[in-house]
Amino acid sequence: MAGEKLKAPRGTFDVLPGDGERRRALALEADRILGDAGYGVVETPIFEHTDLFARGVGETTDIVQKEMFTFEDMGGRSLTLRPEGTAPTVRAYLEHGMQKWPQPVKLRYNGAFFRHEAPQAGRYRQFTQIGAEAIGSDDPSLDAEIIVLLAELLADVNGLRLRIGSLGMPETRREYSDELRAYLKQHESELSDEVRARIDANPLRAFDSDHRGTQAVMQNAPRLLDRIAPDDAEHFAEVRALLDAAGVSYEVDPTLVRGLDYYTRTVFEFTSDALGAQSGVAGGGRYDGLVKQLGGPPTPGVGWAAGVERILLAAGSGDHWRHPMLFIAIPKPERRKTAFRFARDSRRKGVPHELGDAGRSLKGQLKRADQLGAEWTVIVEDAGFTLKHMESGDQQTVETADEVLESVLESAVAESQQ
Ligand code: HAM
Repeated sequence: MAGEKLKAPRGTFDVLPGDGERRRALALEADRILGDAGYGVVETPIFEHTDLFARGVGETTDIVQKEMFTFEDMGGRSLTLRPEGTAPTVRAYLEHGMQKWPQPVKLRYNGAFFRHEAPQAGRYRQFTQIGAEAIGSDDPSLDAEIIVLLAELLADVNGLRLRIGSLGMPETRREYSDELRAYLKQHESELSDEVRARIDANPLRAFDSDHRGTQAVMQNAPRLLDRIAPDDAEHFAEVRALLDAAGVSYEVDPTLVRGLDYYTRTVFEFTSDALGAQSGVAGGGRYDGLVKQLGGPPTPGVGWAAGVERILLAAGSGDHWRHPMLFIAIPKPERRKTAFRFARDSRRKGVPHELGDAGRSLKGQLKRADQLGAEWTVIVEDAGFTLKHMESGDQQTVETADEVLESVLESAVAESQQ
């Protein structure tokens, strides 16, 4: 309706300045950490064939069963807004013949993902993940490397905890699932309706339940970690030894299950006590069967994704707004041209600056410089300039623009050396 104010859809959000700068800073940090470790940038489409997620993430998962934004294109093909990045990255790996590149292929991404979940603090329908995947090696050092890199990225997160586990191989999991099903059936009356309905399809998810009765039953349930094959146990021991060597602390959690079906062997999750119910900051693990499942040759892989919004929620705030170093005040409209040339010179010298509004009084412009947190204000005079240090109020007369910019830059250098 005309005139009616529109809002962003439920579960989405706008990023505003300040927060935007924090997101950029985090993205740059991820670029530095992962780029330095040899993870190249990969970008995949925002939407994919629905089948990719059905086959990749798993038909019985919450994500595929109830959280995907799926639509038909004009040709009647089913497409889905990507709910996660691992299946698309593996698709791209296969589609572009990356199995012929030197292995493992290390990739990183940063982008928007979509899940139709009930929105609450830290849980959105469009959210941002930074992710890393190493495809083509099953060496435990890769599991450890990728966890160490993630720990570094999360260094500023308050109340951070790392839990790790191992799911072994699918054969072990199948046998174990039968054992767990039998156990759950013995305790059926104590379980939540949701868990009971899924005993046959996905019994492991019972470990994830927040239902009291179910949790009590799960306390004494058989544990997959006690059933994994000797070489999987050895692999897990090696991952732990490497994490110990790197000084990363963790808890082994035999009940750790993840919401995606492709995992084998190592799984891990970082949570933050600073967050509420949505405490998962980042998670990942090994997926040695996924490449084959998506039509490729048997190829192991390991990776993680971290939620940008949750990292920033748990990292606390802080002033990330970029304040201008110099505010250019124009007391009279006829001095606009001089001010414009001055702004051009500032740009060329790399001095962050903001131009005043010549239509406003000098007092009003100085007030704005103050509000912006400018360090200096230069007042454009008929001849020359007045340079004012905002905090101390000290003023000096300067003849040329070059001199103004030099003294501003010199003070910045002096300050950074303090
Ligand atoms: P995931 O655990 O489903 O794993 O998601 C990873 C992170 O994305 C979560 O820890 C959380 O921070 C964030 N996240 C997930 N859903 C939401 C939401 N609705 N709102 C806000 N943040 C959210 C994966 O996606 C796997 N692809 C990770 C992986 C990569 N495993 C191997 N390689």
